[in-house]
Amino acid sequence: MILDGQDSTAVQAAAQALAAGDLVGLPTETVYGLAADAGRDSAVAKIFEAKGRPSDHPLIVHVADAAGVDHFAQAVPDFARALMQAYWPGPLTLILPRRPEAGAAAAAGQDSVGMRCPAHPVATALLRACAALGVHGLAAPSANLFGRVSPTTAAHVQGEFGPSLLVLDGGACEVGIESTIVDCTRGAPVLLRPGGITRDQVEAACGQPLRTREELASPDPRASGTLEAHYAPQAKVRLMDAQALQTALDVLGPQASGIAVYARSALRPASPQLLLRRMPDDAETTARQLFAALRGFDEAGVKLIWVETPPPGSDWEGVRDRLQRAAAA
Ligand code: TXA
Ligand code: MG
Repeated sequence: MILDGQDSTAVQAAAQALAAGDLVGLPTETVYGLAADAGRDSAVAKIFEAKGRPSDHPLIVHVADAAGVDHFAQAVPDFARALMQAYWPGPLTLILPRRPEAGAAAAAGQDSVGMRCPAHPVATALLRACAALGVHGLAAPSANLFGRVSPTTAAHVQGEFGPSLLVLDGGACEVGIESTIVDCTRGAPVLLRPGGITRDQVEAACGQPLRTREELASPDPRASGTLEAHYAPQAKVRLMDAQALQTALDVLGPQASGIAVYARSALRPASPQLLLRRMPDDAETTARQLFAALRGFDEAGVKLIWVETPPPGSDWEGVRDRLQRAAAA
């Protein structure tokens, strides 16, 4: 059931469902989430079951403001506080040392917890309504079946989980790809997933360079948050530069079909049956439209999606990452 997220009665109903241990589809500025009370392990278990997600794969806990972090995390380093100050609410998740008594199921048993304060008015309203009912954080992965493309509209969420799930409609997501994830548990910031906040922005706020996990490898190895291997549509994705893409198109006959082309450059397709869609010139607009575009190609029934490799540069890193993962699936 999709309810209007602007309607305070709907937000209240969603908060009550969450307080009762049920799941709710949650709009955020990045992608939609599948939310449960992060403080109740039995509710969190329903997320893993609904998504078909391995239970050792940790979830992000969403809070209404930076103060909410203290329910779940402890010993927050100064550079993490600086990141919250600079980019919260916003598309940035921080991995922090976990309070042993809080959020064990959400964190998949790890001694760390992913925390995010989303910048979407409906998410904020819901998180506040939840806090008033004693629910201090919402565990929410992207609201898609495991390994699939993340949803950026309420209809996408309903398409994944069916009409029995209560979904708050917050419109199409502004950012369109998942949050940037920075691990803050290793003494220096480590980028785990590029996203809406760029590498340059993270480094500017931290006042120090991002490091890699390998550089900071501890002698006492522990489970690292295994990042999803792919964000894949049903059709096979291939990344090519403009020239390789034109060459591939030239080889096709005029009868060729079943292929979608997603490119910034002007290309000459040999066949009128190919599905051509223009990739926007800027990274922000491309991110906003990316997952809906991939879903649209699947709906059109193509078997192959040929994508022009996005340009280099920090602002395109999130889009490049999602396309590379899709192509690797
Ligand atoms: O934008 C987003 O981050 C969206 C919206 C709904 O907030 N959420 C999202 O969640 O993308 P999910 O579960 O699809 O991806 C979360 C990623 C996973 O790759 C997981 O491994 C990592 O965050 N993660 C979560 N907690 C972690 C932890 N304690 N340590 C390391 N990685 C963690
Ligand atoms: Mg996901």
